[in-house]
Amino acid sequence: MMGASWIRDPSLAEVGERRIEWTKNFTPVLMKILERFRREKPLRGLRIGACLHVTTETAILVEVLEEGGAEVSICASNPMSTQDDVAAALAARGTRVYAFRGQTVREYYECIGRVLADEPQITIDDGADLISTIHKLYYSVESEELKYVRPVIGDLDVRELVGGMIGGCEETTTGVLRLRALAREGRLLYPVVAVNDAESKKLFDNPIGTGQSALDGVIRATGMLLAGRDVVVAGYGNVGSGIAQRLRGMGARVTVVEANPIRALKALMDGFAVESMKRAAAHGELFITATGNISVIRGEHFKLMRDGAILANAGHFDVEIDKRDLETMSIRKERILPCVEMYVLEDGRRLYLLGEGRLVNLVCAEGHPSDVMDMSFSLQALSAEYLASNRGKLPIGVLDVPRELDELVARLKLESMGAEVEELTEEQARYLRSWEPGSK
Ligand SMILES: NC(=O)c1ccc[n+]([C@@H]2O[C@H](COP(=O)([O-])OP(=O)(O)OC[C@H]3O[C@@H](n4cnc5c(N)ncnc54)[C@H](O)[C@@H]3O)[C@@H](O)[C@H]2O)c1
Repeated sequence: MMGASWIRDPSLAEVGERRIEWTKNFTPVLMKILERFRREKPLRGLRIGACLHVTTETAILVEVLEEGGAEVSICASNPMSTQDDVAAALAARGTRVYAFRGQTVREYYECIGRVLADEPQITIDDGADLISTIHKLYYSVESEELKYVRPVIGDLDVRELVGGMIGGCEETTTGVLRLRALAREGRLLYPVVAVNDAESKKLFDNPIGTGQSALDGVIRATGMLLAGRDVVVAGYGNVGSGIAQRLRGMGARVTVVEANPIRALKALMDGFAVESMKRAAAHGELFITATGNISVIRGEHFKLMRDGAILANAGHFDVEIDKRDLETMSIRKERILPCVEMYVLEDGRRLYLLGEGRLVNLVCAEGHPSDVMDMSFSLQALSAEYLASNRGKLPIGVLDVPRELDELVARLKLESMGAEVEELTEEQARYLRSWEPGSK
């Protein structure tokens, strides 16, 4: 059963198409892969189901996969991150798109159901909502979401769907965590490539892409000056460290809150103040969470915050800032700007939440700069090709992107930027591989 697209406004297609064309100026690696896929058709006849933020870069990835011979169905990986003009452009090209900005939770899962109804053989996720829905259906794990998914998939046989599945790809840290949890329980149903963990992804997309775009989101939402601000960043992992360093570059005074002692020490030695959230809550003017964890900022912290504190999240789910606590403690809530909600607490203090606590870079800005997504999505395209060409041969588990693909993406990116890598001489390569040489 192939569904018709479900988008906000088809008349936006031309605007979307122009923005996608513009983005191609910044995605040279994807364009190179597109040319090869067009010639070689490595995905011929395959159905791919994608659950990704529907942005211009994603549209280019979809084009690459389609040029490779695949049929693609796509839904959003966040109810608020879809760019409606891009969704319209994709739908006008004939891709099945089930995505619009501002979905209810019900609509979000209905769209996931529609992708499943198109019977994908490869899944591509950002946050694992598509693949975990398949697993919940397969294992009959009752959940609110399935109530929305079931009516949409009708008589789809999930066992058959899983039986025909070649593999999956996962884009982000949070998704990989969820997949590893499934694998640990011995319940993962098919091989999944952890695209997030490739070096040419996590060393660039997470710190550099989110580092820039999260600040872009904060600035677009508030118009605030960062120089001189007291900013608290929760999490000093790949994402948080990039945000903290870029904030410092803009002149902010940055405090890091980190639960891992080694990373906390790294933050300290990188020159940041390191405190508990309890202490930092009392002085911060702007808070940005990037931990992948829940309730990082919660009631006990809201109690301590100064009037006017601004709260933003760059982690995958809208659970890092505890919205339930915020609601309970507030006597009034009002949207005062498109991306800013004001919560008035009982004692009159005002706290401002950006983008409903969802990914601030995608909800309040346009997500990562295309140059960075070029690498992440090139890895996605190459990983899909890897799955297709190794159909039936890969073990069920969370798999690494093969090293040669990881390095290929970095090489192609370097080439596109006019840089060169040093080639080792035979002697040097041998020297690094051998154990015999010692002190002379
Ligand atoms: N906004 C985006 O576009 C974007 C891009 C990439 C990743 N992400 C998401 O950002 C989140 C972080 O990703 P990452 O790659 O940096 O992960 P990571 O594992 O490298 O870093 C997370 C850090 O948070 C710390 N942490 C956990 N709980 C904490 C707590 N309660 N208080 C303080 N620190 C805590 C961990 O110790 C760790 O160092 C994930 O949800 C990921 O999916 C978002």
